[in-house]
Amino acid sequence: MPYNLSNFGLPVKLLFSGYLAVIAIGYGVALIQILFTHGMADGKFGLSIEDIVYSYYGNRSGSLLESKLEGSMKMNAPDNERFEIIQWVRDGASEKTFEPRIKQIFETRCVQCHNAEAGGQIPDFTKFQNIKERASSNEGATFSSLTRVSHIHLFGIAFIFMFVGIIFSFATGVPVKFKCAAIVMPYVFLLLDIASWWLTKINPHFALLVVLGGAGLAMAFVFMLIVSLYEMWILPGKLHSLDRREALRRL
Ligand code: HEC
Repeated sequence: MPYNLSNFGLPVKLLFSGYLAVIAIGYGVALIQILFTHGMADGKFGLSIEDIVYSYYGNRSGSLLESKLEGSMKMNAPDNERFEIIQWVRDGASEKTFEPRIKQIFETRCVQCHNAEAGGQIPDFTKFQNIKERASSNEGATFSSLTRVSHIHLFGIAFIFMFVGIIFSFATGVPVKFKCAAIVMPYVFLLLDIASWWLTKINPHFALLVVLGGAGLAMAFVFMLIVSLYEMWILPGKLHSLDRREALRRL
């Protein structure tokens, strides 16, 4: 009789179950980690589509400097001077173009409050660095960080699902069609998930695809985990009592 999950010896079952248990715990810890890193991206606890957009695409609607000049700092400078600052910010807020004009506006309109005497309560705008920091918009994940995380995920997760897939391939209770689908699914969703990070970096509308990719991956994992554990530990007992009943009936 060929080997399957229910008739493997105890050592192999323990080996497989130990591996699956550790991977399941790792998966849980990974989800908590996501909650902490991405969950807070939009400033509110809990994971949302906005978090994904903020994490990968960023918040490009504008810099702090620009939003303050349109908001609580609006009355501190006449419109034409505010627009000059905003234009300079949108052009990249470079130090080269700061002097003389922009610096002059800051000196006449802003530093009477924004200076070293403000005691750190509000930023000191006599220092260029303090202006620069508030002039950049948030561009989300950088391409270099995406490259790094992508290749780690591709190698690492493919490896995990190799073993989960091997274990699950010994299951007998699932029709071959579903079995093939479940084994291939993690790889498809892994590629989709990683591709969606890059797509979201370029266009925020792809954020939903990140959720889809992650959910697909998790579903495939949970399915294979439950079926494998069931066939190793619960099915043999059921088969056993079935055999016994059958034997009793024949008596
Ligand atoms: C009358 C005093 C005063 C003047 C003049 C003033 N500010 Fe402010 N600024 C404040 C105070 C008070 C805050 C903190 C409260 C707030 O954020 O609205 C602040 C906050 C800011 C912040 C947010 C800083 C941060 O890190 O949270 C920016 C940016 C800013 N000001 C820009 C400007 C610019 C640009 C000018 C000149 C056009 C200017 N301010 C003129 C008083 C002033």
